[in-house]
Amino acid sequence: MSDADTILITGGAGYIGSHTNKQLCKKGYKTVTIDNLVYGHRSFVKWGDFVLGDLADLQQLRLIFQKYSISSVIHFAGYAYVGESYENPEKYYINNFANTLNLLRVMREFGVQKIIFSSTCATYGEPIQLPLMESHPQNPINPYGTCKLFIEKALSDYSRAYGLQYVNLRYFNAAGADPECEIGEKHNPETHLIPIALDVALGHRPHLNIFGMDYSTKDGTCIRDYIHVNDLANAHILALEYLFQGGMSDSFNLGSESGYSVQEVVDTIKKITQKDIKSVSVGRRKGDPASLVSSSSKAKQILKWEIQYKLEEIIRTAWEWHKKNG
Ligand code: UFG
Repeated sequence: MSDADTILITGGAGYIGSHTNKQLCKKGYKTVTIDNLVYGHRSFVKWGDFVLGDLADLQQLRLIFQKYSISSVIHFAGYAYVGESYENPEKYYINNFANTLNLLRVMREFGVQKIIFSSTCATYGEPIQLPLMESHPQNPINPYGTCKLFIEKALSDYSRAYGLQYVNLRYFNAAGADPECEIGEKHNPETHLIPIALDVALGHRPHLNIFGMDYSTKDGTCIRDYIHVNDLANAHILALEYLFQGGMSDSFNLGSESGYSVQEVVDTIKKITQKDIKSVSVGRRKGDPASLVSSSSKAKQILKWEIQYKLEEIIRTAWEWHKKNG
């Protein structure tokens, strides 16, 4: 990449996008973020340039590609409420899927060939075998996951037909915050386990609902694979560098390869915050598999990805951020 080259970050005002933007800029890359700020935060884009915009607007996208010498795109933009995608699939098919086709169209028009795509373990659906490998069948069970899978399919077809080079990064459970507390996790509404439990620790909610204690797991609660947002951010940079070094288009899981139950996460939060986390057992949440744990050895081998944060550190950074911003 030359000095003049800029990386376009779509959805860079969101949780994972903003952490990736910070890491890229710290490493000396030039970035421009586009975000419609429907769920993102303008205050999270403290690095690089910012354009308030929407991928629905082809003309605006073209102006960005005209103004900047874009070398590559990291594509985060998309709604991420699994339950909502069930209730209102059109919102997801249009915003997440159709608008991605706009982005790919403008990339083609301007000869931009490299894209890192923010995919998800939700593309696998109900696991047949654990840990989940990249070769596991992809049968998503909600429109959110389906749209992510459709984008993966589009990238593969565009690669074959038009020479697009892509990396799909399939995240497991993103968690934690920037250790310098400049940015962190802030969703409205919040649906994720760790920020909700931290809200309880701060006294902002009376209790945590535990969705199901009757799963066939060690303590009856669901098992997930939590990965620090900065570990995810670094994987995006490695994936980009991999493509610039001539790496083949491919898909990689990004998880810690360790599974923790909801109860274990709550116990760790109690230990770190030194607060009681009152919890109430409620019924299962629709569409929650009992266990999701990654094999991420492919990213470790091919991208040379190294994980720096374990669960305690994930929760410690989330707690520091939450105390200041919760
Ligand atoms: N949970 C609770 N109570 C809550 C919130 C969550 O018990 O108030 C449980 C869930 O049932 C689940 C675990 O905590 O077992 C983690 O739930 P999150 O909502 O934090 O995360 P998910 O595993 O549902 O979702 C994450 C990403 C999605 C992605 C999905 C793929 O946030 O974007 O993984 O499985 F689609």
